[in-house]
Amino acid sequence: MKIHIINGPNLNLLGKREPETYGATSFEDYFNELQSVFNEVELSYFQSNVEGELINELHQCLENKIDSVILNAGAYTHTSIGLGDAVAAIDVPVIEVHISNVMDREEFRHVSYISKYAAGVISGFGLKGYELAIYNCTTSK
Ligand code: DQA
Repeated sequence: MKIHIINGPNLNLLGKREPETYGATSFEDYFNELQSVFNEVELSYFQSNVEGELINELHQCLENKIDSVILNAGAYTHTSIGLGDAVAAIDVPVIEVHISNVMDREEFRHVSYISKYAAGVISGFGLKGYELAIYNCTTSK
């Protein structure tokens, strides 16, 4: 099973960025942990701060025969119709993940252009949300 994690803007700064909200672990360290926990899964990871690159990466998932995508689009979640359209356009299930509980934050974070097209949404469980998403992929038919 191939699962691709796509992280959007500012998530390259995890571990340094607002640790009270996003934790003190870098995504690279967390990704290594994920790989050791889910060693039967072919996990890959992409991060970009550029909206179009995230859209291109979603399209690429079709060609790369990815079984499921885990997408944390960061702030683009709340602004990007293009990213939402890309999620709708590809025939690959996408799980939307947020580290923080976006519903318990500013009102502008309550809007998601992704959720309508996502297989599900996980928000507020810290980095563990990625693990929960992978667990869901590996246990659902
Ligand atoms: C985030 C929540 C977004 O509102 C924010 O812009 C992020 C991270 C999260 O993982 O909690 O960059 O997606």
